[in-house]
Amino acid sequence: MHFASILALVGLAAAAPAELSKRATVKGFDISHYQSSVDFNAAYNSGGLRFVYIKATEGTTYKDPKFSSHYTSATNAGFIRGGYHFAHGDTSATSQANYFVQNGGGWSNDGKTLPGMLDLEGDCISVSWIKEFSDRYHALTSRYPVLYSSPSWWKQCTGNSNAFTSTNPLMMACWSSSPCTPQGGWPYYTIWQNADSNPYGGDSDVFNGSLDSLKKLASG
Ligand SMILES: *[C@@H]1O[C@H](CO)[C@@H](O)[C@H](O)[C@H]1NC(C)=O
Repeated sequence: MHFASILALVGLAAAAPAELSKRATVKGFDISHYQSSVDFNAAYNSGGLRFVYIKATEGTTYKDPKFSSHYTSATNAGFIRGGYHFAHGDTSATSQANYFVQNGGGWSNDGKTLPGMLDLEGDCISVSWIKEFSDRYHALTSRYPVLYSSPSWWKQCTGNSNAFTSTNPLMMACWSSSPCTPQGGWPYYTIWQNADSNPYGGDSDVFNGSLDSLKKLASG
């Protein structure tokens, strides 16, 4: 074998592990009315953020007053974006899915709209409530919502249910420098909320995949 070929082989062997550990990810953030003004152009251009979840609704009576302006500005800046709904387990799941979809949380197959996200935190909510919301959202939009929770919330409130692993993408809240083990039998998380702060406002999120895969999530 020629010396050059041996060198090439050695180079290949050395490069492989580094390539494997460098999985593609996309940075994003999530925001609500608490972020009264967000510089989406700076977030996109300087921050390298490419997606954003924006709070739309809560229960069946609360519309986030900043939703529309956040959504329009995010769209104009080129973001892949979607709405989220803060779940209240004490009133009808179907009514809340209807309310969410009527107030910005719907979905269009335009390559830039993420399926709506259901924010599960605080008071416990049952698996049957989540299932009812998820099924109603799917009936209205043809997509299953992204389910947001921390591993500890999910374990405490659902008994670590794996009822959604084959249908709903997981958004795992785990504020840490390295990811948690995904809850509920999900083999991996789709989005990891890795910090409760972001230089451009709100919380920091990481999409587990390439920009092309993110666009696929937005296309169904
Ligand atoms: C990211 O997703 C891939 C599947 O697309 C999976 O194999 C991998 O384990 C995930 N990474 C993490 C850290 O969850």
